[in-house]
Amino acid sequence: MRKLILAAASAAALALTGFSAGPASAADSPIVIKFSHVVASDTPKGKAADKFKELAEKYTNGKVKVEIYPNSTLYKDKEELEALQLGAVQMLAPSNSKFGPIGIKEFEVFDLPYILPDLKTLRKVTDGPLGARLLKLLDSKGMTGLAYWDNGFKQMSANKKLLEPADYKGLKFRIQSSKVLEAQFRTLGAIPQVMAFSDVYQALQTGVVDGQENTWSNIYTQKMHEVQKYMTTTNHGYIGYVVVVKTGKTEILSLTPEQDEAMRKAMMPVYKDVASRVGQPLIDEFLKETGRSPMN
Ligand code: LMR
Repeated sequence: MRKLILAAASAAALALTGFSAGPASAADSPIVIKFSHVVASDTPKGKAADKFKELAEKYTNGKVKVEIYPNSTLYKDKEELEALQLGAVQMLAPSNSKFGPIGIKEFEVFDLPYILPDLKTLRKVTDGPLGARLLKLLDSKGMTGLAYWDNGFKQMSANKKLLEPADYKGLKFRIQSSKVLEAQFRTLGAIPQVMAFSDVYQALQTGVVDGQENTWSNIYTQKMHEVQKYMTTTNHGYIGYVVVVKTGKTEILSLTPEQDEAMRKAMMPVYKDVASRVGQPLIDEFLKETGRSPMN
């Protein structure tokens, strides 16, 4: 866990500095990671972001400072991905449904109705090779996908009882920017309308749309129940997130144990070459003091 948090914090920090901060400039002031999101703090994503802040600051001894901007206070859905690409924020966790407009439509597979029976099955996908392959797609957009975060399953709401497929006919539904969600509502004979999450409450209140789909935590924290007469437990779809940072200019490579050994072996002649200059007894003393053998 500690390693993961540190890796995430350094990925975001590297994107911020472009790996250009020299030792002097990096030494004093903390590296600030701005983490923007669109939901309330008291939701799965809000809590995960706050936890990340707590652990990243703790594990870096305050060298990294994470500023969380919840509830679209900094950017709305579409803007936040643009802001990340421009470097105005360093970390986001947009829902899978929001990557289509920047040209990565594959994450919309998570939007297919009834494709995930439960969270355990979801984990099997996201923690396996398929999940890793999907994260890799972000590279082409200058982003690095660090992790999948959960919210949960979606429910339907409207001012009319939604019990049969026919009940959806002709109603306007707010959707996230996903073509799969558009197809889902069109299939039911409804009229989908893409809208930023922060605008949903008002759109429901003023009748710009008749209904919406979302998770219980999002519905409750946005107070949608104040402006919707009926909620139907459908669990028809899933909302989860991809934690993304802008890719730094420098790619960090890791060596396999074999490559590491080859590097060490390749550099061993240095010890012999400089023995007369530095002094073999001093080198021996040094190695004894550090308890180190250069080959491991
Ligand atoms: C939505 O726009 O409905 C959700 O993606 C919001 C969120 O981030 O959970």
